[in-house]
Amino acid sequence: MPTLTPIELTTRRLTLRWMNAADAEAHFAIHADPEVARYLSRPPWTELTQAQEAIRQTLAQYASGEGLRLGIVLRETGQLIGHASLFHFVDDSRRCEVGYSLGRPFWGHGHASEALDALLGYGFGTLDLNRIEADIDPANAASGRVLEKLGFKREGYMPERWIVNGEPADTVFYGLLLRDWRARA
Ligand SMILES: CC(C)(COP(=O)(O)OP(=O)(O)OC[C@H]1O[C@@H](n2cnc3c(N)ncnc32)[C@H](O)[C@@H]1OP(=O)(O)O)[C@@H](O)C(=O)NCCC(=O)NCCS
Repeated sequence: MPTLTPIELTTRRLTLRWMNAADAEAHFAIHADPEVARYLSRPPWTELTQAQEAIRQTLAQYASGEGLRLGIVLRETGQLIGHASLFHFVDDSRRCEVGYSLGRPFWGHGHASEALDALLGYGFGTLDLNRIEADIDPANAASGRVLEKLGFKREGYMPERWIVNGEPADTVFYGLLLRDWRARA
């Protein structure tokens, strides 16, 4: 697992930064929305304590190197509008997975693509990764489009990889290689 140090990534409209306990309410508002949870592997949150616990885990993962979840903040207003993460690091193979969610009012403005472009650059650059993977619900067309815009290739289909609220859910698996990221740049 990588040694993580506090970072701030700046894009045209966004800052990606380490999260902290003060983010709990905004983090809760994002994940209490059933539309945000629709294609995630867990139900929408119902209690603020779930957001507080998630942030506690995020802070523990900064320390252990297990995961890097960055808050996505609008530079203009300072509002936390989502997060993007690198996790499941496999050091010997220099790979990990990526995850991301935005609050619904902020969908459809290119924010996820802009944030992930910066996070992937950090992963392939500073963290020296060779491959980044994503596991998404086949029905999550916006998520698939974000990945494809960033150069990810659809690599496989895994039926019933998840059971969500008692219902089986399939996975489309995407991958992005360092050499393809460099070629795209
Ligand atoms: C997936 C998500 C992060 C996308 O965020 P976003 O900021 O709206 O993404 P972007 O604007 O950067 O790009 C979305 C792309 O999908 C397209 N899109 C949106 N809805 C679509 C749909 N129903 N069908 C096809 N394409 C769609 C958009 O047109 C855009 O593509 P374009 O730039 O070529 O026009 C956001 O919808 C979200 O947080 N969803 C809930 C959580 C989630 O599902 N996370 C991903 C788990 S794998």
